[in-house]
Amino acid sequence: MSRDIRRLSVRKRNGEELSEDELRWIVEAYTAGEIDDAPMAAWLMAVCCAGMTDAETWVLTDAMARSGELLDLSGLSRPTVDKHSTGGVGDKVTLVAAPIAAACGACVAKMSGRGLGHTGGTIDKLEAIPGLQTAIEPQRFMRQAEEIGLVVAAQSDRLAPADGKIYALRDATGTVDSRPLIASSIMSKKIAAGAAAIILDVTVGSGAFMEHQDEARALAELMVGIGERAGRRTVALLTDMNEPLGRAVGNAIEVEEAVAVLGGGGPADTREVATAVAAWMLVMSGVERSIAGARETVDAAIDGGGALESLRSMVEAQGGDVGALDRPLLGHRPTARGEFEVRRSGVITRLDARKVGYAALASGAGRRRKGDSVDPAAGLRLLRKEGDEVASGDVIAEVGASSDRHLDDAVRELREAVTIGDEQPPSRQLVLGVVGAEEIG
Ligand code: URA
Repeated sequence: MSRDIRRLSVRKRNGEELSEDELRWIVEAYTAGEIDDAPMAAWLMAVCCAGMTDAETWVLTDAMARSGELLDLSGLSRPTVDKHSTGGVGDKVTLVAAPIAAACGACVAKMSGRGLGHTGGTIDKLEAIPGLQTAIEPQRFMRQAEEIGLVVAAQSDRLAPADGKIYALRDATGTVDSRPLIASSIMSKKIAAGAAAIILDVTVGSGAFMEHQDEARALAELMVGIGERAGRRTVALLTDMNEPLGRAVGNAIEVEEAVAVLGGGGPADTREVATAVAAWMLVMSGVERSIAGARETVDAAIDGGGALESLRSMVEAQGGDVGALDRPLLGHRPTARGEFEVRRSGVITRLDARKVGYAALASGAGRRRKGDSVDPAAGLRLLRKEGDEVASGDVIAEVGASSDRHLDDAVRELREAVTIGDEQPPSRQLVLGVVGAEEIG
């Protein structure tokens, strides 16, 4: 076994399989600060280029999960379920699906991530709610899970700390879009958080880390396999991420949209994906037996107000200002505001999710460098989407930004994201498939 990260990077780059001891050592030593960022980044890049065997990915995941405490939620009074997305643009599904599932009788106790690459992160979005804390100690995590059935925390020194460090380094070094690194990052958090059932939302398309369905399915199968091996009931939905989900892309603005959907309004696509995920959360946790029955329960939780109430309870329990949920942009004001106008008439044939993600990043909603803070007020509101007719001069997006320079950069990126043509684009299905629970109807 080698304990030299440089030699391990070279061996990985050359396509060698690393041993269990070597992989566990890398995770432990990096978490403990004994490997610096630069050699670790080189190792991550070698993994991106050469990949990992399923056996290596399992060991990496297990080592990352065990870098902190492994929570045992089996003593809680409600059935536990977790949910995670592989990342997208405008993806506020957790903010909608988790409160719904909690309102319907499941206990959702989960760890989420921050923005990664061009995608947003649930923790950054939640932290846009004034006062809301996401650094939650394990005992408090368990207590909140029991008391209100809903808790969303960030990685901490005690929960999956290896993922916290590796995630931030991947974001800063362009080493995000790797199947084993995504699988180990997500599944280590899921295993550490302790829920008995796991729903994975594996996004596919230009705004996702997996652009093609076959790659996304392979990632879904890998993660479902890891979940099952860890003794968790695991299922993955493949969902479209070619166009941003909903109309809001940013932090406060996405919470605002999630609140609208929980209140029975908001964009139809956000509701469709979030309610599909919530229905699977109910079935996999055992609260409901069939997807059809779960869908009715989910709709009733939205219509009856229980789902929104559940989000409010979580915000309050985590120290957030519940009143902010009723204010536009949660009460934030962007430093600079602007509009994006189209320069020709026709139909929007393409609204490229990845490029919209770059525009949101440029506005100040994401990080350019490791350790940067995000601007809760920055982001985009898409007034028109694919398939909409536009006339030259129409405003199709409103932009809130951290400064005039950020605003100019965001508008420039948006221009790249939009294609206007003469014919309607083909319509897209949002939920493309299910991996791991084919027998459930
Ligand atoms: N979400 C995560 O938690 N990790 C990834 O690598 C990608 C999405």
